[in-house]
Amino acid sequence: MTSGSYTNEWKRTLYCGEPRIGDTGKPVVLNGWLRARRDLGGIIFIELWDYTGATQIVFNPEAIPDAHARAKDLRSEYVLAVRGTLRVRPEGTENPAIPTGAVELAAEDFLLLSPSCLPPFGPDEAEKVNEDLRMTYRYIDLRRDGMQKNLRIRHKAVRFTRNYFDRNGFVEIETPILTKSTPEGARDYLVPSRVNPGDFYALPQSPQLFKQLLMIGGCDRYIQIAKCFRDEDLRTDRQPEFTQVDVEMSFITEEDIIALTEPYLAGLFKETIGAEIRTPIPRLTWKEAMERFGSDKPDMRIDMEIADISSVFAGGENPFAGIVQGGGAVKCLCLPGGASLSRKEMSELEGRAKEIGSAGMASFQIKEGALKGPLVKFLPDSAQEELKRISGITADDALFVMADKSWAKACAILGQIRLELARARGLTREGWKFVWVTEFPLFEWDDDGKRWSAVHHPFTAPMDEDLDKLSSDPGSVRSRAYDIVLNGTELGGGSIRIHNPETQSEVFEALDISPEVARDRFGFLLEALSFGTPPHGGIALGLDRAVMMLCGAKSIRDVMAFPKNQKAQCPLTSAPSKVEKSQMEQLFIISTAPGE
Ligand code: AMO
Repeated sequence: MTSGSYTNEWKRTLYCGEPRIGDTGKPVVLNGWLRARRDLGGIIFIELWDYTGATQIVFNPEAIPDAHARAKDLRSEYVLAVRGTLRVRPEGTENPAIPTGAVELAAEDFLLLSPSCLPPFGPDEAEKVNEDLRMTYRYIDLRRDGMQKNLRIRHKAVRFTRNYFDRNGFVEIETPILTKSTPEGARDYLVPSRVNPGDFYALPQSPQLFKQLLMIGGCDRYIQIAKCFRDEDLRTDRQPEFTQVDVEMSFITEEDIIALTEPYLAGLFKETIGAEIRTPIPRLTWKEAMERFGSDKPDMRIDMEIADISSVFAGGENPFAGIVQGGGAVKCLCLPGGASLSRKEMSELEGRAKEIGSAGMASFQIKEGALKGPLVKFLPDSAQEELKRISGITADDALFVMADKSWAKACAILGQIRLELARARGLTREGWKFVWVTEFPLFEWDDDGKRWSAVHHPFTAPMDEDLDKLSSDPGSVRSRAYDIVLNGTELGGGSIRIHNPETQSEVFEALDISPEVARDRFGFLLEALSFGTPPHGGIALGLDRAVMMLCGAKSIRDVMAFPKNQKAQCPLTSAPSKVEKSQMEQLFIISTAPGE
């Protein structure tokens, strides 16, 4: 079957999703891809699709014998231009499920613009096939309504973002992709330099250092829809190459960033999906988030909270007394209605707690009005009453108890159990629950490296109140960092930066980064800090993650046109791939063998 050339007379007069009752009687040309095809007693029905939707087209052998004969050879995903008259569908054949379902196009003629090989899957089947196959034929996967909807929501999000920041006096400035390593905590992607043998560029993990330099350069308010690259293990909300809405401002405090971000998020959700976001967004300090929800990205749609019952176990003879006396903590999580959990379900949960790192998990239940559980025998009546009062356990509930010498670990394990219980028992409410998490610790102990490392990045300012503990007690220093969390996902994060070289040097010292190493890695920033630096700070929002939430997508890959798979490969282009030996020689990755 040969394809014809596309001339003006074949240009569409309507998109495939547009025909309505009001258009009947009109001559119409539609252009698109052939979807469903049915041959009913000689009459051929097809659906012609484009991103706006699909319209039914009828080829009647009596009315158009020549075109009908040619139409017999049409197959799925052929690209056609079809001319005809739009008419109301015969009574009883309407399809109320689609907006064009009341009408059909009586074909008069058609032009085959491009045939298609037998596709490995139809766009309608895409969600059922292996994801690598979908990604190999991404252009077919993109020809489905779900992907088209997601890409268009993403476009709206980007458009809203640019307009919002423009209205607020921000300037979009591009920063380099071939650059020096930025310390965001992941591994770098490196690019060898041909003209500088043995030297490498790093692809930016974020534009962090450049946006700070822009502030030093007097740019005042910077925004960039920035590509970032991180070589880290992939998850459903992580890609090696992703996009940030990256923002930095001068002469500001945390309040300015929050005051800018909240209306941005509210506008973003309103503009793209019509959702109402209530502001002000509640705030939790990191400590409170850990204490109450066992996570630095708490899912606030779940009501269950963790409580501290260390006082119940502090005295007397019980298995946790030593932990409490040694400075550890006993935490609990109350599951409403949990008394109905069977012994097997309880022991499965205990097993789960062990899998995620605990030595074990104790439990109580209230059955027939009495506190039950293996630990009850250790608790005098007064302690039992205190346990009930603090934990809030009432009739028919279950209480999960975690004791650990590290309160953060006890909280984190119960935090994970909280999420899993909520998922399994449908305790997660619908809706959008944002929360700010503030006052993160500046440092965390890296057990492998036996040193302190930065929780965010080493340019995050310590809180003024904690400055004097930088060298004496680094673990207790709080930072001026904040994360914005939505429904248990970290959407973005930022901080007020250090703007004087002395504090920066002290932080490097606490991180065990020697002045030589600091000079080598970030010397340009340290030098710049000494040339007049305004107080500044910023935030970066994960655009892909935000769009994922807006689209209700389960995977970040569903909101990117050409994502990488779980192994960081692009099955469509086969990247990464081997390169010519000569290319590697030119880049000094391998040396030319003598005599070659
Ligand atoms: P951070 O490293 O917290 O901060 O990143 C900001 C946001 O980027 C998103 N994100 C990712 N999205 C998809 N795939 C990934 N691999 C990935 N990694 C991060 C998250 C995250 O909240 N320079 C600082 C920001 C600042 O301090 O201003 C930074 O990059 O949504």
